[in-house]
Amino acid sequence: MTWNRSHLLDLQSLSVAELTAILDTARAFKAINERSIKRVPPLRGKTVVNLFVEPSTRTRISFELAALRLSADVINFSAEASSLKKGETLRDTVRNLESLNADIIILRHGASGAPHYLARFARAHIINAGDGAHEHPTQGLLDTFTIRERKGRVAGLNVTILGDILYSRVARSNIWALLKLGANVTLCGPPTLVPKVFERFGCRVIWDLQEALKDADVVNLLRIQHERQRVTMFPSLGEYTALFGLNQARMKWVKPDALIMHPGPINRGVELEGDIADGAQSVILEQVTNGLAVRMAVLFLVNGGKAAELN
Ligand code: CP
Repeated sequence: MTWNRSHLLDLQSLSVAELTAILDTARAFKAINERSIKRVPPLRGKTVVNLFVEPSTRTRISFELAALRLSADVINFSAEASSLKKGETLRDTVRNLESLNADIIILRHGASGAPHYLARFARAHIINAGDGAHEHPTQGLLDTFTIRERKGRVAGLNVTILGDILYSRVARSNIWALLKLGANVTLCGPPTLVPKVFERFGCRVIWDLQEALKDADVVNLLRIQHERQRVTMFPSLGEYTALFGLNQARMKWVKPDALIMHPGPINRGVELEGDIADGAQSVILEQVTNGLAVRMAVLFLVNGGKAAELN
């Protein structure tokens, strides 16, 4: 197994072997999560801090549960109720957390590069739980894990990512993981949100929804990231839904065995009709389940865990 990093900051810099090491380790943790006794000891005596400066449901809760399953002590830092509100810097906040012996700090922050900044001075292991529009590595990993588990492979699959690509850290992490593992990635949405410059990543960019859907083995839908848009990128949500929303009528363009994915939170009736989100092709809640195993794997590996310990 190839994993020697003490932080997880992005997927862009990971090798195929490193990506595969995380996915394989997550498979072992998924099996542990299906046992009646789910708690294992690798992080006993360690302290994990969830430092979320932006809102989260899935990522924060699954990191908390992942750390508890690994027997760590967990602190959930509430930014709103913290001294960040009084002007304390992120650096001073982290220095103070380290003085309380934080071993692993999981950071979600609105500024791209914030986890990389922490990693330059922190003694603790740093895990990126989403930085601005840059990356959301554990989401990219859990999406890739779900595809690999459901389809048996990633290489050669056609994956369409549909929606607000420009402002999406989920899109970027998916793009890096999927391309490295040999998938064909198509990006689709309004031209203002899916600029041609993404072709430089190695993706196909098309603005015709039917064309983007017809050969897809996986359709991953993204929410409009209003919180990051500084200017109006399309006339109205109604127009977005009319042109790019996935509804039952458009499902006839989608292969019957294609997976419907969404990182959450879903804006039902905007990018995705509710009955498709809840339908037979949807793996959206499986993504959440797999996120727990992936986050256990990441915590385990950055703390120096070795796969042999899981046998
Ligand atoms: N997918 C995701 O990051 O969801 P949360 O914002 O709820 O963590």
